[in-house]
Amino acid sequence: MGVPLVIFSVFLGIIAATIALPNERHKLSEKCTFNEDCATGLFCSSCSVEFKGSRCVRSLTTNPFKLLNTSLPFNKYAYLTTHNSFAIKRRPIPDPTPVVTFTNQEDTISQQLSNGVRALMLDTYDFKGDVWLCHSFGGKCHDFTAFEPAINALKEVENFLSSNPSEIVTLILEDYVEVPNGLTNVFIASGLIKYWFPISNMPKDGKDWPLVKDMIAKNYRLIVFGSQKHKEESEGIAYQWNYMVENQYGKDGMVEGKCPKRKDSSELNDRSKSLVLINHFRTIPIQKVTCKVNSEDLINMLSTCHVVAGNRWANFVAVDYYKRSDGGGSFQAVDMLNGKLLCGCDDVHACALGYSCTIRSK
Ligand SMILES: *[C@@H]1O[C@H](CO)[C@@H](O)[C@H](O)[C@H]1NC(C)=O
Repeated sequence: MGVPLVIFSVFLGIIAATIALPNERHKLSEKCTFNEDCATGLFCSSCSVEFKGSRCVRSLTTNPFKLLNTSLPFNKYAYLTTHNSFAIKRRPIPDPTPVVTFTNQEDTISQQLSNGVRALMLDTYDFKGDVWLCHSFGGKCHDFTAFEPAINALKEVENFLSSNPSEIVTLILEDYVEVPNGLTNVFIASGLIKYWFPISNMPKDGKDWPLVKDMIAKNYRLIVFGSQKHKEESEGIAYQWNYMVENQYGKDGMVEGKCPKRKDSSELNDRSKSLVLINHFRTIPIQKVTCKVNSEDLINMLSTCHVVAGNRWANFVAVDYYKRSDGGGSFQAVDMLNGKLLCGCDDVHACALGYSCTIRSK
C-alpha cells in the first residue's frame, strides 16, 4: 500500500486542517467519546474484537464522480453496497408485531445514501396485498419478518435521486413477488420510473456500460436488477445474472484465499458479464464482529476475488453494518477498488493526484 497510503493520510490531514475548529476534532483512529468528537466523515465507534474503547472511524465514502470525473463507463467505478439495506434495528414503521429476525444495518436508507452507499440489496415479497421488504424464508413474508412496504424505501431512493441530480443508484432485488406487475406498480407509485435505466441499453456481451456522464444527462440514474428471469421480458426488469457475476455470500463465501461463485451466477471470470459483485458478510450478522469482517478481511477477500474474476476488480462490494470497522472499513475498500479501476493505484486519492500506478487491469 506504501505510497497511496501516505497520500491518503496526507489527504485526511488536509481535511482535518481545513475544518480548523476551536477544539480540533479527532482524526481517524483517535480515541473519542461522542460522534461530535470526530472530524467530518468519521464517527465514534467501538470494535471490541480489535481495540478497547471507542475510536473515530470512517463513515463516508469518497465520491469518485466528484473527486475525479464522470467520463468513464459505469462499470469502471466501484460502489458501496448494503446487504439487506432495509433490515434495520429501529423499524421504520410503527407496528405492534415485533420483528423476530436478524438486522443487517443500523441507519435508514436515506442515511445510507447520504453517506455514499450507491447500491441497495432489497428482498421483495407479496404481503398484505402489497409489495413489502421482508427478511424471510421459503419465499413467504410473515408479520414477524416484515420490515416495511417497499414503497417507503423506494420513496427514500426517489428523494435522494431528485435531490442529487448527478448520482446513480443501483437496486439489487431478491424478488419473490408473484403478482404480475406488482414490482412495476410500486416503482411507478414511488416516482422512480422517470430514472429507470432501460434494459435495451445494458450490455449483455461483456462490453462497457454507457458513460456515467451520459447516464446522468439522460437521467438514466436508477439501475434495477432482479432475480426472476421472466420479468426481464414481461416487466423490463433486468435479470441480474445476465449482466453480473457474483461470489457466494455468507459463511461459505468467506473462506480465506477462495472466492467461489454464487449458485445463480456464471463463473466469476465470465467476461461476458461486465459487472462484478463481491459479497462479504456473515450468514448470521453479528454487529460486534462485523468491524473485523469489514476491515482487513474485506480488503484481502477483494484481492482474492480479483484474481478469481480474471483480474477484474469488483464494482459492487456488499456488506452488513457498512459503517462498522476498525478504521477505514468498507469505505477504504471502495477507495481501493476505485483506485485500482480508475488509475491502477491502491487508493482513489492517488488518481486525483494524477498518479497512474499500473496498466489498468479491467
Ligand atoms: C477522468 O478520470 C480518469 C481517472 O483518473 C482519467 O483517466 C481520465 O483521463 C479523466 N477524464 C477526463 C476527461 O478528465
